[in-house]
Amino acid sequence: MYVWPCAVVLAQFLWNRRRELKNKTVLELGAGVSLPGVVASLLGSSVLLSDSAELPQCLKNCARSCHTNRLKVVQVVGLSWGHISPRLLSLPKVDLVLGSDVFYDPQDFESVLVTVSFLFQKNPLTQFWTTYQVRSSDWSLELLLSRWRMACELVPLGVFEADKPELAGSRLPGNHSIQMMVITPGDGSPDSVRIYSTLSGT
Ligand SMILES: C[S@@+](CC[C@H](N)C(=O)[O-])C[C@H]1O[C@@H](n2cnc3c(N)ncnc32)[C@H](O)[C@@H]1O
Repeated sequence: MYVWPCAVVLAQFLWNRRRELKNKTVLELGAGVSLPGVVASLLGSSVLLSDSAELPQCLKNCARSCHTNRLKVVQVVGLSWGHISPRLLSLPKVDLVLGSDVFYDPQDFESVLVTVSFLFQKNPLTQFWTTYQVRSSDWSLELLLSRWRMACELVPLGVFEADKPELAGSRLPGNHSIQMMVITPGDGSPDSVRIYSTLSGT
């Protein structure tokens, strides 16, 4: 099991916004080891962890993290990005969607946003808090955010004290450039996603 650097940064963001996490319904996408979901649960949210429905071992890893952290109330569900499955349809309204390093393969970018868009339609007050590791300056989410009518705010890491190599007691492996984004339903106008332009290298 591997905790990606993005997960540590997102966990730090959750800690910084801990007062907002009491009694919230939170869904983590592509949770893997589930550090952000575990932190959200410890901060008082009702948490659903998800990973690909086609990867039972990843779902087992989510459950293992809950067990290790003695979290009995967290549910684990199989949700594959971009699939409007019966499991997705049966989810309760969520206040917050978490995604740590879910934008790591450009082929999946739009599928992630399709799932998030479905959740936004169910509850227009839902926010998507996500961390992105910059792996290529050729990759961009801007057009997709516009297509799916979303707005994006880039939160500088210094705002929540995540701009240091040593974070949450762990040393981030390697020298990574990580971005923290708050994505909300929007009108898809260039202005609403412009703040995001650093991601496309423009
Ligand atoms: C780079 S890992 C990040 C894991 C974890 N969020 C973290 O930051 O430590 C990407 C995660 O997305 C999951 N994943 C990959 N493709 C997926 C898909 N199509 N639908 C849902 N989850 C997927 C993987 O199983 C893996 O857990």
